Amino acid sequence: MIIEPRMRGFICLTAHPDGCEQNVKNQIEYIKSKGAINGAKKVLVIGASTGFGLASRISSAFGSNASTIGVFFEKPPSEGKTASPGWYNSAAFEKEAHKAGLYAKSINGDAFSDEVKKQTIDMIKADLGQIDLVIYSLASPVRLDPKTGVLHRSTLKPIGEKFTNKTVDFHSGKVSEISIEPAQGDDIENTVKVMGGEDWTMWMDALKAENLLADGATTVAYSYIGPSLTEAVYRKGTIGRAKDHLEATAFTITDSLADINGKAYVSVNKALVTQASSAIPVIPLYISLLYKIMKEEGIHEGCIEQIQRLYAERLFSGKEIATDEKGRIRIDDWEMRQDVQDKIAKLWQEATTENLAEIGDLEGYRNDFHNLFGFGFDGVDYKADANEMVAVESI
Ligand SMILES: NC(=O)c1ccc[n+]([C@@H]2O[C@H](COP(=O)([O-])OP(=O)(O)OC[C@H]3O[C@@H](n4cnc5c(N)ncnc54)[C@H](O)[C@@H]3O)[C@@H](O)[C@H]2O)c1
Repeated sequence: MIIEPRMRGFICLTAHPDGCEQNVKNQIEYIKSKGAINGAKKVLVIGASTGFGLASRISSAFGSNASTIGVFFEKPPSEGKTASPGWYNSAAFEKEAHKAGLYAKSINGDAFSDEVKKQTIDMIKADLGQIDLVIYSLASPVRLDPKTGVLHRSTLKPIGEKFTNKTVDFHSGKVSEISIEPAQGDDIENTVKVMGGEDWTMWMDALKAENLLADGATTVAYSYIGPSLTEAVYRKGTIGRAKDHLEATAFTITDSLADINGKAYVSVNKALVTQASSAIPVIPLYISLLYKIMKEEGIHEGCIEQIQRLYAERLFSGKEIATDEKGRIRIDDWEMRQDVQDKIAKLWQEATTENLAEIGDLEGYRNDFHNLFGFGFDGVDYKADANEMVAVESI
């Protein structure tokens, strides 16, 4: 079938299998071009199909020749209906990994559930024995608590008072004011339940209980801080409370891994266009200004560049891992540079529908958003018939 983008707000209903494959191949080429990383060899990535998790899987496999198990929650294709992009990404990843002689298997299901944890444990036992790196990169709006059966929904709300600021509809380029009502009732607890560290702990406990973590095993989860411009809705909002919890969880996991010399880290990453971040109000305007300035300064990075730097210059540099005063690895260091933030704060005041395409990188935002779904890649013939029924080899 001919597959075209069908945009609905901050999601696209279609995905292009060949474009997703091209996206994965480009990321693999980037990692290869940067040279070998002396990293972990047996890697579990939870949230492995898009964004930072996919970049982590690619960095481990093609930077360190690692065997990888990827867990994700994606929609497979059906005749005449495309899969979700993470499905096609994972199909392409496995194809390339297998071609390169690398072990790569995937599990498609709810990572919050006991069943998927059990399935993963069985796979590690059968195939890899022990794991030396666990990347935790889930971004989800809901979590069914496997112990209580309660379905928790996360929210993206300010805490205490209503927040009013500028935002942009990145499809139309319209800059407008948006007001978000503050969290009420159980919004904070629910968001912490979904995006906090509880499930990360459950994964690490389950793996350790089965003796599936190698001596010196490392686990890393991803967080975000961002500037004061967005803090009411992000870092000081409901999602920020979840990130506080996730970051605190790194310490309790490190304690629980002490007897195997294991360690848990949080890496604070840069703001990027992913399916998760485009759903957050205000953030798209911030990102379009951020991209413009970081590109001008020659310091722009995507997910793959970020994770390559995390691996090569932090986690596996052979030197002591540099962290901030709260024990976090910072690869948002270039985003948070004072000169970058000062320029954004100034542009933020000036931004209007009329000037945003010029003072911000709206086009870069849109390109990245299209790319998430496999659209807009050079080398892909979008007018040609594409086969939507692509399989993930191991599933
Ligand atoms: N995008 C950003 O700007 C940004 C910046 C810093 C940190 N982060 C953090 O990075 C992490 C990953 O975010 P992302 O932006 O790469 O998101 P993403 O939406 O691209 O990826 C989310 C992944 O989680 C998987 N997933 C979601 N629900 C699942 C479930 N129930 N079971 C199994 N898999 C499930 C998806 O399949 C996908 O692989 C998050 O913790 C996010 O907060 C994101």
